[in-house]
Amino acid sequence: MITFSLNGKKQSVDLSPDTPLLWVLRDHLHLTGTKFGCGEGLCGACTVHIDGRAERSCITPLSEVQGKKVTTIEGIAENHPVKKAWLADEVSQCGYCQPGQIMSAVALMKEKPHPTDADIDSAMSGNLCRCGTYVRIRRAIHTAATGGKGGKRS
Ligand code: FES
Ligand code: FES
Repeated sequence: MITFSLNGKKQSVDLSPDTPLLWVLRDHLHLTGTKFGCGEGLCGACTVHIDGRAERSCITPLSEVQGKKVTTIEGIAENHPVKKAWLADEVSQCGYCQPGQIMSAVALMKEKPHPTDADIDSAMSGNLCRCGTYVRIRRAIHTAATGGKGGKRS
């Protein structure tokens, strides 16, 4: 039995310790906001927070989260500045990559509340978007950093 905190609540699962966390979340706990993209740690669609850090759940075995705090997109409040900025700046196109993008952005802003473009590009470079929303992602992060007063146009 592996026990961890999931979105603030204690969670125990009786699965093989090498089960990827992504499948635990999606198939066993029915939290489908976290997406499967490449399954190899390369696209960022499956990004969650483990003890506050952005991590790829597709390459994280369940055993690694024993005793840790896992947060998924469902655990980020709807009124979180990043989620609000994503809506205000109409970031999403198909939306598939966006939960992972938001999780990376929230982790970045915890570390750097007012990130520069270079900070954003570096922190977000592992999150791919086939729809090419990168400019709007950057703008929304600036919007969130300025308390919703409008992102820097770029
Ligand atoms: S699905 Fe995990 S990084 Fe692509
Ligand atoms: S919004 Fe479609 S993949 Fe990013």
